[in-house]
Amino acid sequence: MTINVILLGPPGAGKGTQAKTLAERTGLTHVASGDLFRAALREGTELGMLAKSYMDRGELVPDEVVIRMILERVAQPDCAAGVIFDGFPRTQEQAVALQESLAEHNGKIDAVLYLHVPNEVLLRRIAGRQTCKVCGATYNIYYFPSHRPGICDACGGKLYQRSDDSLETAQHRLDVYFTQTRPLIEHYQRQGLLHEIDGQQDIAWVTDAMLKALGRFLEPSAQPKE
Ligand code: AP5
Ligand code: MG
Repeated sequence: MTINVILLGPPGAGKGTQAKTLAERTGLTHVASGDLFRAALREGTELGMLAKSYMDRGELVPDEVVIRMILERVAQPDCAAGVIFDGFPRTQEQAVALQESLAEHNGKIDAVLYLHVPNEVLLRRIAGRQTCKVCGATYNIYYFPSHRPGICDACGGKLYQRSDDSLETAQHRLDVYFTQTRPLIEHYQRQGLLHEIDGQQDIAWVTDAMLKALGRFLEPSAQPKE
């Protein structure tokens, strides 16, 4: 069955952490707008340079740029069986564009998993985050440090701190989330698609809660254990 899932939540809520595991457990493809911009920047493309100028300030990249990038990505064959959207949509205009594009191919959004986490926890998570340059695994110096400082446990790659994870930029990203993205909670609630998940719990608990929320869409092998 094709299903499309959106992970909604503020910066630091755990969208990327959960999307990686959910993709492994469900076979859906993880599409993260922020990761696509960071990859474009590493490749030195025009899109990457443009996105950087917004990301470094904690501002949203203009809708038309993000929408074009995401719709091109979901048109690729590996997305045909369904997608976990991480960090997209983030505005009303993006939500409408996604819905219209999926409808053109008889597709739809099946569930929106909203991760709720209090602000003070978010800032600590963002300030402590370290990401592997090679495999993208995420650590946290406060909660889950890597065994060897600065080195990824999974692949031995170097860990780095995202340039938009300074306290000042993170605070601004939170403000932008509250004004521009939070209204989507109500948008998806009205459509009966929203599942609120307590994102303050530990990572495995959150994964299980997400799998339970998706239960009826999943193959038995992907169901959470009781
Ligand atoms: P993006 O890359 O999407 O960043 P974000 O939304 O700010 O979210 P984060 O990646 O910071 O948080 P996350 O929820 O993924 O948390 P994570 O799992 O890493 O966007 C960056 C920028 O790109 C934007 O500011 C904008 O400029 C641009 N952009 C992207 N998409 C756009 C769009 N659609 N439109 C316009 N512009 C766009 O976890 C965080 C930390 O917490 C980690 O250290 C992790 O290990 C830890 N952690 C996770 N879960 C738990 C837990 N349960 N308990 C304890 N610690 C945990
Ligand atoms: Mg992320």
